[in-house]
Amino acid sequence: MRADVTQLRGSRVLVTGASSGIGAATAVEAARKGARVILWARGADGLYATAKVCAAVGGEASVFLVDLTDASAVAGAAQTVRDQGGPPDVIVNNAGAGRWLAVEESTAREAVDAMAAPYFAAFYATREFLPAMIARRSGHIVNVTSPAAFVPVPGATTYSVARWAMRGFNEQLVSELAGTGVRVTLACPGVVASPYFAHNPGADERIPRIVSKLSRTVTPEEVGRAIVWGIERNRRRVVTPFSLKLMLGLNAMMPRTVAWLMRRTGWHRGGA
Ligand SMILES: NC(=O)c1ccc[n+]([C@@H]2O[C@H](COP(=O)([O-])OP(=O)(O)OC[C@H]3O[C@@H](n4cnc5c(N)ncnc54)[C@H](OP(=O)(O)O)[C@@H]3O)[C@@H](O)[C@H]2O)c1
Repeated sequence: MRADVTQLRGSRVLVTGASSGIGAATAVEAARKGARVILWARGADGLYATAKVCAAVGGEASVFLVDLTDASAVAGAAQTVRDQGGPPDVIVNNAGAGRWLAVEESTAREAVDAMAAPYFAAFYATREFLPAMIARRSGHIVNVTSPAAFVPVPGATTYSVARWAMRGFNEQLVSELAGTGVRVTLACPGVVASPYFAHNPGADERIPRIVSKLSRTVTPEEVGRAIVWGIERNRRRVVTPFSLKLMLGLNAMMPRTVAWLMRRTGWHRGGA
């Protein structure tokens, strides 16, 4: 084993949104590496299904039913985690939902809810365990975002701003945790064939056509493997698939051109 590779065997890995999609796949991959995974979400069926697969691949899993948008529920679950074995070594802030809506299509409630998970969910979970990580000078926080945190997606303001918040949260953590021994990774998958689009109807219809031309759809398992690899290798950023890296590189060099392509091939007001 290389000295710069983090061993997940025996470590405690908290995955939020572990009842479905990317979170479930990340938990299973961490369990396969021998981690003791702590699964947080609201849906019991999905969480227990994930726990079963984690056990089948040789890991240990504990399940917590928690609405991550409720700070006191998060505090309660965090206390139980601390009581049952101490704070996690790794937190994967993945829980997230939200329809893709333009400003004038969204109610005030939908706008608030879209920020609540992922952003406040990540904030609450991180806040609970960060003091312990800083005190022991180790830990790793992964924040899952989307290409919508880099490139404007027409007709998806509610979704996109919450992913920009995740990216901003990540960059703030990088800065605030410098020198503390606590590591931070931003995970940015492209389009993932997860139940997200069934859970948030209408979102897939608003993915600009240019996205599928420039980057392929990936599976939750590919993303889970990439996230775990990023933790093991202490990567600052994990972008999946590789073709998305090229797209984000193009965006960094020519942001106006990419924004124009997204507009040309994406949602138009009135469906025109
Ligand atoms: N799918 C994609 O193409 C894609 C691409 C890039 C980034 N992402 C981002 O990755 C994250 C995960 O997406 P996914 O594709 O895995 O979607 P998913 O299959 O719908 O899973 C979302 C997970 O978040 C949990 N969750 C949502 N609200 C919650 C709340 N209030 N409290 C606790 N858990 C909550 C859900 O669990 P419960 O409903 O059981 O609580 C579920 O486990 C999202 O933030 C998404 O935007 C997705």
